Amino acid sequence: MLHYNNPLKEHKNNTPNLTIFELDSCSPKNKLNEMPVPSEVAYRLIKDEMLDEGNARQNLATFCQTYMEPEAEKLMAEFMAINAIDKTEYPQMTELENRLVNIIGNLWNAKEGQSLGTSTVGSSEACMLGGMAMKFRWQDAAEKIGLDIHAKKPNLVISSGFQVCWEKFCVYWDIELRTVPMDKEHMSLNLDTVMDYVDDYTIGIVGILGNTYTGKFDDIEKLDAFVENYNETAKIPVGIHVDGASGGLFVPFVNPEIVWDFRLKNVHSINTSGHKYGLVYPGVGWILWQDKKYLPEKLIFYVNYLGGEEPTMAINFSRSGSQIIGQYYVFLRYGMQGMQTVQGHTLQIAREIADMLKEMDIFEIYNDAQTIPIVCYKLKHPEKHKWTLYELADRIAMKGWQIPAYTLPQNLNDVLIQRLVIRADFSHALAESLMQDMKNAIEYLEENTKAESAGKGRTSAQGFTH
Ligand SMILES: Cc1ncc(COP(=O)(O)O)c(C=O)c1O
Repeated sequence: MLHYNNPLKEHKNNTPNLTIFELDSCSPKNKLNEMPVPSEVAYRLIKDEMLDEGNARQNLATFCQTYMEPEAEKLMAEFMAINAIDKTEYPQMTELENRLVNIIGNLWNAKEGQSLGTSTVGSSEACMLGGMAMKFRWQDAAEKIGLDIHAKKPNLVISSGFQVCWEKFCVYWDIELRTVPMDKEHMSLNLDTVMDYVDDYTIGIVGILGNTYTGKFDDIEKLDAFVENYNETAKIPVGIHVDGASGGLFVPFVNPEIVWDFRLKNVHSINTSGHKYGLVYPGVGWILWQDKKYLPEKLIFYVNYLGGEEPTMAINFSRSGSQIIGQYYVFLRYGMQGMQTVQGHTLQIAREIADMLKEMDIFEIYNDAQTIPIVCYKLKHPEKHKWTLYELADRIAMKGWQIPAYTLPQNLNDVLIQRLVIRADFSHALAESLMQDMKNAIEYLEENTKAESAGKGRTSAQGFTH
């Protein structure tokens, strides 16, 4: 979040009464406190400030991991001081990152000795790297055939269900974001029209494995066939980048038969968030390229000031190695079978929730956790209720649940939906309690809402959609 430097209101004394003996002052809001405070008081003060923070496990808006085992937390805390970029000084961390690139490559059917990749802070950084590789490759190819690269902006083709990181990428790199609108029949990339958006200035097509709005998958296998066909006559062949932020570390365990990864010739690169269904706390992500030829050499930097000559491909430089340790812990701890069990269980709970929502008979379900544990729905007959999903989101928040309500993008702006992201720390008991709270909230709204005020002037409730 971007913060403006507007002075925040200082309280005369914001310490809890019981700490007044140790500290009779306030925590700083606009400038540093003059004197140090004892460490245990600093701890208590900050802990106290966080008292009414939302409960992460009841936050069904986020895809991010909200629980890790104590042993994982311990390990991650122990290695927090290791800077993951210092490949020479911390060779063991580098070794673990290397193993993880291989393990993820194996899950994505990469060919040994051909693929390469790196960890990132999350999918946003990974998408940025994937996008840059596409842009530089396109530029090289365009220059080779003598295309005037200044005549038009290069473009990137993606469904309108994209996550904001792609909009950022296009703004930062001066690229036209060509969105293929989703419609009621195509709640993902519309394959009937996608190739109409592609031309000589297209740097690549992004297929999304779990779009942010509805959790639906683009059909990457079909897209690959269309791209193959296009490339037969294209002046500049296009490739596919798969944004597998949420699906990339879920599908290989639950639906290995879905063909979406490096088994497909035109899938040049894939990203995922280790901190989503990779089961690690934020922030870790991954990007892999199918072959070195898809990652232009000029994007790889070699630095010698850390003691060795190491190749790096990253936007950030320094960051803690904790998340890499966390990712390695998850894979080692669960192994293939454990991952299948955990992810399968999460999917089953999400499907049970979808069934319970269907039984209520007032929702039209857009996604009943078909592939990833996302449940997404709208009111079947919004005109029959005095309340909207915004009011439902507000009401259910009183029980601590954060369930976002938001409108769909481009062409579907009149459709108001809610989305539940079910994660590995959810249980049958929690699912039942959520559904009971939902029923109670609906009953209350039916009896107590005034139709005139429902949904007035609102565009979202309970926060973000990522
Ligand atoms: C499809 C998609 N791509 C990219 C991102 C960005 O991921 P991150 O939060 O790991 O940067 C998200 C986040 O939800 C996403 O859903």
